[in-house]
Amino acid sequence: MPGLKQRGIEIYNWFEQRLGLATPILEAVEHEVPENTSSWWYVFGSAATVLLVLQVMTGILLALVYTPSASHAWNSLEFLDHNVKLGWFLRAMHGWGSDFMVAVVLIHMAQVFIFGAYKFPRELTWIVGVFLLLMTLGMAFTGQVLRFDQDAYWGLGIGASIASRVPLIGGWLVDMMLGGPIIAGPTLTRFFALHVFVIPGALLALVGLHLWMVLRLGINDWPMPGRIVRKSTYVREYHELTKQTGIPFVPDAAWKDAIFAAAIMLSVIACALLFGPFGPTGQPDPTIIQTAPKPDFAFLWIYAVLAYLPPNLETPVMFIAPMLAIGAMLLLPLVAGEGEKHWSRRPVAVLMLAVIAVTLGVFTRLGTYTPWSPIMDAWTSDAIPVTYLHDRTPLERQGAIVLQNKQCRNCHSIGGAGGLRGPALDAIAARMTEDQMIRQVLQGGGNMPAYGNALNPSETTALVRFLTTLRGRDLPPATDASRRLVLSSETPASSPRER
Ligand code: HEC
Repeated sequence: MPGLKQRGIEIYNWFEQRLGLATPILEAVEHEVPENTSSWWYVFGSAATVLLVLQVMTGILLALVYTPSASHAWNSLEFLDHNVKLGWFLRAMHGWGSDFMVAVVLIHMAQVFIFGAYKFPRELTWIVGVFLLLMTLGMAFTGQVLRFDQDAYWGLGIGASIASRVPLIGGWLVDMMLGGPIIAGPTLTRFFALHVFVIPGALLALVGLHLWMVLRLGINDWPMPGRIVRKSTYVREYHELTKQTGIPFVPDAAWKDAIFAAAIMLSVIACALLFGPFGPTGQPDPTIIQTAPKPDFAFLWIYAVLAYLPPNLETPVMFIAPMLAIGAMLLLPLVAGEGEKHWSRRPVAVLMLAVIAVTLGVFTRLGTYTPWSPIMDAWTSDAIPVTYLHDRTPLERQGAIVLQNKQCRNCHSIGGAGGLRGPALDAIAARMTEDQMIRQVLQGGGNMPAYGNALNPSETTALVRFLTTLRGRDLPPATDASRRLVLSSETPASSPRER
């Protein structure tokens, strides 16, 4: 139908006459980039942008059902999970999209750093990027609070206690953050506003600025050892390079971005399908002290660092370290804006990146299993293994029940199940004599509570009798060294093994 086509062109022209966007868009799409920037190393920035679009879209859909009120938030998530068709999938996509976005942004930053792409004239692009990282983390944190479950509640508690340590304005900061002195309705309203209006608004604006600068300044050329960035010559050299080897961004360079973005999308979908949405864990209840609140993956390392820090270092490390880290990132392009870009000529930079990556990785790993916190439900969910009860006297079995009921296994494991705060008890009788065990149980010590008041003498007897049967495999029972010394001095040649 020629008439229809004619109409279409007329409508297009009507808009184009008023908007005038065709030329700039076409220019942006087809602009020449140096051939060597068409590389799989250059795909992370565009993948982060695609993830941002995913987050905005899934976020809008979630906001249609989510109720930002302290009494209804948790229920509305349950409603999404169970009553809305594919609601769980939407939540899972938004949650996994968030984790992927943090990861991709971090990788993008590492790549930009190692390729020296923050150097002249792209200093400001990097600085805007640092703010984009902070906002991405801000979205991850505020988003986790919106779940308003136990993890969110205690995560907020920890966040607030960090804020309260700021000298002078700590109290005011907590008030600002929580919308009052305690975590309550206003807290959620505040985080909802941050997560849905304030941070995304700023984030989108800065992403626009970031992309504009990428277009304007050109994609960073592939670093070559010996090709030194100088403010006086760089721009001319870059243009020459583009003129000699330039290829249009679309399609010659962009197809790699498209394939990688598609792979990331498929990974998000796969994770969402396989692992489902995050939480909500239990309804927030300040009367239940959660001993192991788990933050989302982006903050696990902070959680691990805080747990391992000696208490007197907490306050300084919590403020000074982030300030220094952010300050260093912002200053980096200003102090190192010229010079070599290639990693082989920047050993300090490579080493620094490796140290940061390994440290973050290790602490994140530590954060996933928190060996310092007792598993508080160990006594209800894991029975004492049958092998430890087989062939035991009634008194000893009685002791096994005391061990279970007094919740010793919140801190001690038996048969691999239980807490890790204290040593495993499987072979305790090979290490301690009965007297030592009685002392340890009644008096406690070394981070173990004293059970003197909580056990009557018959319970203690039974408990310790049971413990003396826990000897591991083929280990001799522990003997009292002091007693043995006395014995051997009295009868010098009593036992050939002791000489
Ligand atoms: C709050 C955690 C906690 C609980 C609950 C607890 N313990 Fe302990 N327990 C520890 C810690 C920590 C140590 C290590 C003390 C040290 O290093 O001096 C320990 C040490 C011990 C030891 C000595 C182990 C060794 O190898 O040196 C015994 C025996 C023991 N506990 C028995 C018990 C019994 C029995 C109970 C229950 C009545 C119990 N514990 C409850 C934390 C706990």
